[in-house]
Amino acid sequence: MALRTIRTEGDPVLNKVCREVKEVTPRISELITDMFETMYEANGVGLAAPQVGILKRIVVIDTGDSGALAMINPVIVETSGSQTGDEGCLSVPGKAGCVTRPNYVKAQFYDEEMNLCEIEGTELLARCICHELDHLDGHLYVEKVEGTLKSVEYGEYEELED
Ligand code: NI
Repeated sequence: MALRTIRTEGDPVLNKVCREVKEVTPRISELITDMFETMYEANGVGLAAPQVGILKRIVVIDTGDSGALAMINPVIVETSGSQTGDEGCLSVPGKAGCVTRPNYVKAQFYDEEMNLCEIEGTELLARCICHELDHLDGHLYVEKVEGTLKSVEYGEYEELED
């Protein structure tokens, strides 16, 4: 296990479209382990592979209620409702901004054994899934902020949102 460096806004790797994972090699398993460690160390609730410089469609999430969730090749298959609230990102340190997201999300993904899985989430988990999947297509939440991006004390928002 090892902590990986979290890339920050301005790093071109954050604006690239990630590739699908074809098989879970030992390197991919190690990446997922490292992503969890890196996310927990930074007090985040989600982390996408491009945030550690790897252009693969992998995200890790742990909102508390969700438990540790590694999602490979995730896709959102259903959404409903909406929620508006503050969001932050480990790649945009010290900032938060108001973003509207669906209040319910259903997603399909592969687990580390490449079994097809499905998850439903509301509120924070729905927000987190949307935020992390956007990273896989090169998008940051700052593109969607309503109003101004606020400065927050370091560490303040990460416990609420990645
Ligand atoms: Ni993020």
